[in-house]
Amino acid sequence: MVFIELGLVSLLLLYIFYKWATLKYNTFKERGVPFEEPWPLVGNAGAVVLNREGFNKTLLDFYNRNREHDIVGFYNFRSPMFSVQNPEYIKKMIVKDFDFFVNHAPFFNSEDDPLVNGMLTVMKDQRWKNMRNTLTPIFTAAKMRAMFSLMTECFNESLDRLREETKGGKSHDVELKGWFTRLSNDIIASTAFGLKVNSYVDQNNEFYSIGQAIANFRGKQMLKFFIANAMPLVQKILGFKVFDAEKTDYFKRLVIDTMKYRQEHKIQRPDMIQLLIEAREETDQNWSDDDIVAQCFIFFFAAFENNANFTATICHELMENPEVQDRLFKEALEVRDQLAGKPLTYEAVMKMKYMDMVTSETLRKWSLAGALDRLCSKDYDLTDDKGNLIFKFKAGDYIWFPVVGLHNDERYFEDPNLFKPERFSEENKDNIKPYTYLPFGAGPRMCIGNRYALMQAKAMMYYMILDFKIERSAKTVKNIVDDVRGFQVNPLGGFWVRLVPRSS
Ligand code: HEM
Repeated sequence: MVFIELGLVSLLLLYIFYKWATLKYNTFKERGVPFEEPWPLVGNAGAVVLNREGFNKTLLDFYNRNREHDIVGFYNFRSPMFSVQNPEYIKKMIVKDFDFFVNHAPFFNSEDDPLVNGMLTVMKDQRWKNMRNTLTPIFTAAKMRAMFSLMTECFNESLDRLREETKGGKSHDVELKGWFTRLSNDIIASTAFGLKVNSYVDQNNEFYSIGQAIANFRGKQMLKFFIANAMPLVQKILGFKVFDAEKTDYFKRLVIDTMKYRQEHKIQRPDMIQLLIEAREETDQNWSDDDIVAQCFIFFFAAFENNANFTATICHELMENPEVQDRLFKEALEVRDQLAGKPLTYEAVMKMKYMDMVTSETLRKWSLAGALDRLCSKDYDLTDDKGNLIFKFKAGDYIWFPVVGLHNDERYFEDPNLFKPERFSEENKDNIKPYTYLPFGAGPRMCIGNRYALMQAKAMMYYMILDFKIERSAKTVKNIVDDVRGFQVNPLGGFWVRLVPRSS
């Protein structure tokens, strides 16, 4: 008898779970949008959860199967995302009718966490607009120029270590994702938090260890994120925060202590803390310390993983395409000659035309952000240029713009699997169809740190390529794109290359 009751209760619980896991799976059918049949709970992202492929691969394959539709439905776990795939409509929604799509779709419930809630990416409406306006001057070319010297110190520390490893002309195999994560870490510690660390020498420094634990969405961290995203009520009952308070407190203390120390000792340093202190003095908004810490925190998140991926993927493509590498090396030599012994400057690196083509093509082929997301904040009628109604969006709908699909669509980029920097040459780049190339997003909500990211990657590549030839190592994964798993660019076998010193 007890067994029957237990069995019935289990069945009931299973039924309730199934209902909850498929609660919104009627959305696209009801709204007349084409879609693919979802799995309970994981939606159309099952292969990512089973660790069979990376998220971008799932998104790309989905796009390729459905690209003839202007709008198609993708179930991102339990959430229905309206994927808008026609570049004309993307432009309309992301720029012209931005007021309907100011905010991002919420990642997880962060109302009780001022640090997460205060990040620019998470902020909403007027609060976001005020913060964005105040932060924009921090990322101008002039401010980047001033920050360049801080970055250069970190490049040198990283390169010194590589020079050490290749002393006497010997080649050195290195896994670049890990290598550049340390560089990204040291640069963001210095330029955003005002803290000087050398993660090549002091491998387990506190900033690096805590940063890694927070930014790596694996294991316990991934589980917490998943529960917060998919089951906010369970999170509330269990009473945990996605980011451990003891870890975020470390960053908080760092920023607040640095601000205090600088103000007391009248110390100036051309970094983001300095610029945030100045911005706080100039703005009429009442910024709390948490507001400032939150911005350092998002700069850390945005820069840490993205910049490491960016530089690792450039090196990988240079290894795969030796003729591109030779041409970039020649351009770097020319710049070095022009500098005539003076150190590299922000202007000199940003003027490198071929470098710009190579980095642009890397961002196309690797699409670090697979999709852009927006939340529809008020009912919106999407119309074509003749005024015909295309679709009625409702307040609360989640929207996606499928960056990885557009970047790999041969209608916009011929032979998308090939690495061809020429697509971005002076003669060719104006032929790219608008709103098909979106590595940093677009419109008022586009990436605020793109200049910073480009400066870091280009300058590091300038130094790397002058010193080393990048070749295949015995450990290099053959088909690296298919080797990526999870939500970030993490190939199972890493980004291995062989560095051959040029002076040998
Ligand atoms: C290669 C490196 C990077 C890539 C590919 C990248 C990409 C992106 C993308 C796609 C977005 C969303 C844009 C949209 O929705 O239209 C974004 C937003 C953002 N990024 Fe980046 N990013 C990079 C580096 C950085 C860096 C280095 C920083 C700061 C130091 C940064 C700070 C931000 C911030 C604060 C936002 C939110 C902007 C807002 O909501 O107003 N990013 N980024």
